[in-house]
Amino acid sequence: MRHFLKDDDLTRDEQLALIASARRLKADRFARQPLAGPKSVAVIFEKESTRTRMSFQVGIAELGGNPVVVDAKNSHLSRGETIEDTARVLSRYVDAIVIRTFGDDRINALAKASGVPVVNALTDGYHPCQLLADLLTIAEEFGEVAGRTIAYVGDAANNMSHSYLLAGALAGAHVRVAGPSGYRPDPAIVERANVLAAASGGSAVVAADAPAAVDGADVVATDTWVSMGQNDREQRLSDLEDYRLDAALLSRAARHAIVLHCLPAHRGEEITDEVIDGPRSRVFDQAENRLHAQKALLAWLMNPDMESTFPDGAAT
Ligand code: CP
Ligand code: NVA
Repeated sequence: MRHFLKDDDLTRDEQLALIASARRLKADRFARQPLAGPKSVAVIFEKESTRTRMSFQVGIAELGGNPVVVDAKNSHLSRGETIEDTARVLSRYVDAIVIRTFGDDRINALAKASGVPVVNALTDGYHPCQLLADLLTIAEEFGEVAGRTIAYVGDAANNMSHSYLLAGALAGAHVRVAGPSGYRPDPAIVERANVLAAASGGSAVVAADAPAAVDGADVVATDTWVSMGQNDREQRLSDLEDYRLDAALLSRAARHAIVLHCLPAHRGEEITDEVIDGPRSRVFDQAENRLHAQKALLAWLMNPDMESTFPDGAAT
């Protein structure tokens, strides 16, 4: 049994195969129903969501499965039932558990006690489902992710930055992240990304500032300056002022560069209207791609035999 708790829970071949499978599912959206029966998937939210909630619910249904979407505040999780007991009970009902929560210790404990695959739908540390969609978007634009330079600017200590480092390095991309002092990534994750990059031919660096990250990049990405669960909004807005993705910063990227943002955007804060609504933006394709990427992920996780999941050799 496999879980998907962080980006490098996949091998490089598995990541490539999932992106290829997602492209095929996007081209022929109702072609396969591997969750027919139906298999049930619990989708639990301990934080807010628009895209993740909708894309998992719709995607599971499109695969022939039964999505069971739960707001934690309406369950006994909010009254102190342990995550382990919750995992043990849900494992008796469903075939997989997707969860959005706070600390990674919490999803790790859930996965340990679970009898079914667990998927990270965002934690404080990582947002790996988002990165599958982002890599799909990059692959659609450029043919492949390997060799492309991905710049991420802003709060480089957050889940998106960490997932860009791991997923990008695994994919063989050149990942540069930049944030001001106090907003730089966990050094252990940069170190892990460097190990992945050494095997894939990519690279992973913390750039000195936003222009250094964006110079010549193929992909320029950012995210909110105030993630869910963070309360120091005014301080963050002031600290991150020099990391806004505006037209001047984007002009440093390659002429063919695309702009990504996982959404929701805080227009005028981390990104300007001109950039997010401009010709380089792919943010709504990226949001759509959550659906296709997660369908590919669930189809595989719930039947990890690559031969039967990818019958026509998606890894190549
Ligand atoms: N990008 C993303 O995860 O969006 P939601 O918070 O709306 O799910
Ligand atoms: N970093 C953001 C991502 C939202 C999809 C957060 O955790 O709130």
